Amino acid sequence: MYICLCHGVTDTQIESAIDNGAETLKALSTELKVGSQCGKCCQCTKRVLNKKLLQI
Ligand code: FES
Repeated sequence: MYICLCHGVTDTQIESAIDNGAETLKALSTELKVGSQCGKCCQCTKRVLNKKLLQI
């Protein structure tokens, strides 16, 4: 599912970036550009991040 429409980033891409060590919103933004344009995906990205971190 697409999370960031501005940059075409999916939840799978976000999860794999988290697996590779991007464990903050800032790190995900640096790596995948999520939230760096309109910002509408920040909430959703945070949800994916928190869910994933709870699993680790
Ligand atoms: Fe992610 Fe716009 S939807 S920056």
